Amino acid sequence: MRRVRFHRHGGPDVLCVEEAEAPEPAPGELLVRTEAIGVTLPSVRAVREGAGRTALPGVLGGEVAGEVVALGPGVTDYAIGDRVTGLPFSGSYTELARVPVPMASRIPNGASAVSAVALVRGGQVALAALATAGSSAPAPPAAAGRPVGAPGAPIASLLITGAASGVGHLAVQLAKLQGIPRVVAAVSSPAKADFLRALGADEVVVYDSADWGEPVEVVLDGVGGDLLPRAIDALAPGGRLVFFNSGGGTVPAHALLAGAKTVTGLSMGRFVAGHRELYDRHGEELWRLARAGRLRPAVHAEIPLAEAARAHEIIEARANLGKVVLIP
Ligand SMILES: NC(=O)c1ccc[n+]([C@@H]2O[C@H](COP(=O)([O-])OP(=O)(O)OC[C@H]3O[C@@H](n4cnc5c(N)ncnc54)[C@H](OP(=O)(O)O)[C@@H]3O)[C@@H](O)[C@H]2O)c1
Repeated sequence: MRRVRFHRHGGPDVLCVEEAEAPEPAPGELLVRTEAIGVTLPSVRAVREGAGRTALPGVLGGEVAGEVVALGPGVTDYAIGDRVTGLPFSGSYTELARVPVPMASRIPNGASAVSAVALVRGGQVALAALATAGSSAPAPPAAAGRPVGAPGAPIASLLITGAASGVGHLAVQLAKLQGIPRVVAAVSSPAKADFLRALGADEVVVYDSADWGEPVEVVLDGVGGDLLPRAIDALAPGGRLVFFNSGGGTVPAHALLAGAKTVTGLSMGRFVAGHRELYDRHGEELWRLARAGRLRPAVHAEIPLAEAARAHEIIEARANLGKVVLIP
């Protein structure tokens, strides 16, 4: 089988195609013949920055979709021939991927592997971020300032950074589907504005513009890093930010204190472990909305696995409108 790995850190050009033995699925794993593989910013970062963080030779993660061709010992929930999407632990850029059963879910009849890769992982992160924003609602501030909703109250306004990303463009749509009246999409380039407005964003702001509009009740931060203080600034008093990105950053504690603001971290690993039923319900909801044509996962590009470097270049250029997908 073919796979893509890297033997030194650097730009997309360090990715190379190799032949390898087909792996055996371990207990509790599915062996999946991949038909589509998602490219994600953390994978691009692992190649570029990985020193000390990613062992060499490096393998890359991300969602895959395809057909189950072998079952590891003890697997009873799936059968050979099932079509699934999931998140491998031991590498995704490969024709045969080992997917742990807890990280797998079935692809409904008639849906393509590409749509599964564009929809499920990003949609799960978006729904988990929205759920986290809702459930962590603090009490409204008693003092002067723009009041925000009480615990459990509907969210009135929400800003999403990295709004055109694989996660972000689904979060914009899901926020509107959840009835949030004002959804602001924040991006690095005005070239992404038409795409986001077509998905339902009420406002589009570009990071380096001086004015981000009226403060919002909730920020879903998919970027972090230097943008994090600005994203916290965009919150109204009492507002809350859900931090789910791989960009790091430093929280200005005084800004939280002065504005009675909250920052909550979201890790999908912990979310799945702590809210399994909700996670499964979210998966069903995503396919229901997609089948009804109400949620539209956007595929920016489908690129052959052997040209993975080209896919990474698109992400590094911050040019993607939706999901970048590799085709083995
Ligand atoms: N918490 C979790 O468990 C979890 C799970 C999955 C994904 N995530 C996070 O969700 C975020 C979005 O992931 P994704 O896979 O949807 O992204 P993606 O489709 O790969 O898109 C990446 C986007 O991120 C933005 N970006 C910000 N800083 C960047 C940088 N230094 N280089 C390149 N792009 C940058 C760009 O949009 P702009 O230029 O418009 O900013 C770019 O279009 C990532 O931070 C990822 O780590 C978290």
